[in-house]
Amino acid sequence: MTQILKTDVTIIGGGPAGMLLSHLLGKSGIKSIVIERKTRSHVLGRIRAGMLEAGTVDVLRQAGLADRLDREAVVQEKVHYGYEGKETLVLDLKAFTGRWLTAFGQTALTEELYDSHDRAGRQLFDDVSDVRPQDLLLKPFTTFTKNGQRYRVDSEFVVGCDGSYSVCRNTIPKNLRREWVREYPFGWLAVLADVPPMPQLFYARHSEGFLLASKRTPQLSRYYVQVPVKDAVEDWSDDRFWKTIFRRLPKTYHSHVTTGPSIEKSIVPLRSYISEPMQYGRLFLAGDAAHIVPPTGAKGLNLAVSDVYYLHRALDAAYNHKDPTMLEEYSQTALRRVWSAVNLSWRLTEIMHVFPGESSLEAKLLENEFDLLLERPCKQAALAQEIVGLHL
Ligand code: FAD
Ligand code: DHB
Repeated sequence: MTQILKTDVTIIGGGPAGMLLSHLLGKSGIKSIVIERKTRSHVLGRIRAGMLEAGTVDVLRQAGLADRLDREAVVQEKVHYGYEGKETLVLDLKAFTGRWLTAFGQTALTEELYDSHDRAGRQLFDDVSDVRPQDLLLKPFTTFTKNGQRYRVDSEFVVGCDGSYSVCRNTIPKNLRREWVREYPFGWLAVLADVPPMPQLFYARHSEGFLLASKRTPQLSRYYVQVPVKDAVEDWSDDRFWKTIFRRLPKTYHSHVTTGPSIEKSIVPLRSYISEPMQYGRLFLAGDAAHIVPPTGAKGLNLAVSDVYYLHRALDAAYNHKDPTMLEEYSQTALRRVWSAVNLSWRLTEIMHVFPGESSLEAKLLENEFDLLLERPCKQAALAQEIVGLHL
């Protein structure tokens, strides 16, 4: 027999978007149930994003989720951009904006969110199957199966935080939404290595392809290199990977690299994808469920947090102040920020990568973009603002 539960907001997806939303709603006295398809250990084992915008850190701090971040995170006041054979552009975020980036892994953030969820005693069903949000225009309910038991959750609202293959997004009739898609003809090999990272956050464009040197903690390095989209992780031994790093990184930075065995490798495809609107009746979408950006610029996780910030504010106004205006405007509000991030990620991806088959004119124009950045402080100021993120 189906077991019936009731809550205010059903949250589908227990990634950073879903868990942060549940946390914020809890603080506003709004009940939620999170439904996550994978096991908790699978979710906590995923290694993904790592650079937080200043506004993201503000949201986490206001939510009381910054204790670990304050202990472990590494502040990144400058970003270095290398372009084969040219002077390196050192973009001083702090000088231009008074703000900076913070290196703090998505894995650590997700652990914090699950721990606080446990402490608050909120409900979460993980390792579930056959999740179906239904009747989203009138009286929403969501059905799913866990351990052979069928459940039904009745709620006022459903929020789809279920990532790039979102079931929630696909319940919105095709004729009511619009999609924009771009698949990039390469991927990133992502490597985590248990060695001290380069002090710099370094993006490099080399004739062979892109390179990014980042970090998780003072002892944990995160690197990314552009690879053909058909490559498999098995094609990349540690030796091949480190040799690639040294070829693509300007020689003056070589002494900053500490090599060592990798502890995780994966290949990430690059894609821009946006689905509008982010609402359908009583269903709202947040995070990767509505939009994917290529990781150049580190916007994916930050957008998930800004969506949730706006959505929480809107649900709080609707529940606690009987004012539905912000909820009605949520899609529009969130999308303004989404499109800025899509734009930045796209431009940085174009400038910093090598496109198979690109014409010499295209290559020259992209190089010219980089030269203009090097020459013009006004362009640097605008880029710095976009990198640290718009104010929420
Ligand atoms: P997710 O983290 O994808 O969470 C969605 C959750 O929903 C998952 O736990 C999933 O299991 C669950 N789910 C899915 N379907 C269902 C269902 N039907 N029912 C219930 N639950 C469901 N961004 C950056 O900024 N920098 C990076 O370096 C970077 N690297 C990345 C590497 C990889 C391999 C990937 C996939 C993404 C990367 N991103 C990066 C993007 C960033 O991690 C995402 O933007 C961020 O995870 C978005 O959070 P989310 O909660 O919206 O989605
Ligand atoms: C990281 C990822 C990014 O996509 C990026 O642009 C900068 C840093 C990271 O994982 O550390």
